Amino acid sequence: MRKPLIVGNWKMNNSIAESVDLAEKLKKVIKDMAGVDVVVTPPFTALGSVRNAIKGSIIKLGAQNLFWEDKGAYTGEVSPLMIRDLDCEYVIIGHSERREYFKESDEIVNKKIKAALRNKLKAIVCVGESLKEREENKTMQVIESQIKKGLQGLSLSEAKELIIAYEPVWAIGTGRNATPAQANEVHAYIRKLLSQILNEGIASNIKILYGGSVKPSNSAELMSEKEIDGALVGGASLEAESFAQIVRSACMV
Ligand code: PGA
Repeated sequence: MRKPLIVGNWKMNNSIAESVDLAEKLKKVIKDMAGVDVVVTPPFTALGSVRNAIKGSIIKLGAQNLFWEDKGAYTGEVSPLMIRDLDCEYVIIGHSERREYFKESDEIVNKKIKAALRNKLKAIVCVGESLKEREENKTMQVIESQIKKGLQGLSLSEAKELIIAYEPVWAIGTGRNATPAQANEVHAYIRKLLSQILNEGIASNIKILYGGSVKPSNSAELMSEKEIDGALVGGASLEAESFAQIVRSACMV
């Protein structure tokens, strides 16, 4: 049985004060929900303050990105050690916005996954097809390539700490979510791939999240699908009550 996981991706939003305010509100509304794991990923600048604000709650901390080396002359980058230093337990890797705007290739994603796992961070690896690829019936092909290249060379013990997020690019920030059946089909395919690449035992324990316009009005339905183990939430995670409602819907599965 995989415990549901709900991750809030705040993206490039919120000052430190706004982040702390949101974290404090979340701490109040998200409690007594032991049946679900909850993670927030504020921008780097607010990680330290949010860490302090969520102390004593069930909410865990994650980063939105990292660099693949532990330290050195890499101006402007943030290393896995620095993220660990801030008590992050999770890190998002290969988000479609990073693939698109920062040209992160599957090879870069692979290096980042290895860096995260080497440093005992749980890697939330994002995959997903564009609208054009879906319309051309290439969804499974794209997912297969992203997963195979992204996970290349991982040891089985490292791979246990992976989390996959299926995020169809056409559903991110558009208000247009994949139907539960569409998402479940891709999730089942990802799990089959994972059992081929790793093994069935490990694959059956890896959480596969859905992301792309998850909101209180559609989360329960998405979460009730067998292969959907939680959600990566963007826009709706910026407001405490809407994020809490999504967490609650996962709790009730
Ligand atoms: P959204 O973003 O919920 O605003 O669509 C999801 C994501 O990018 O992770």
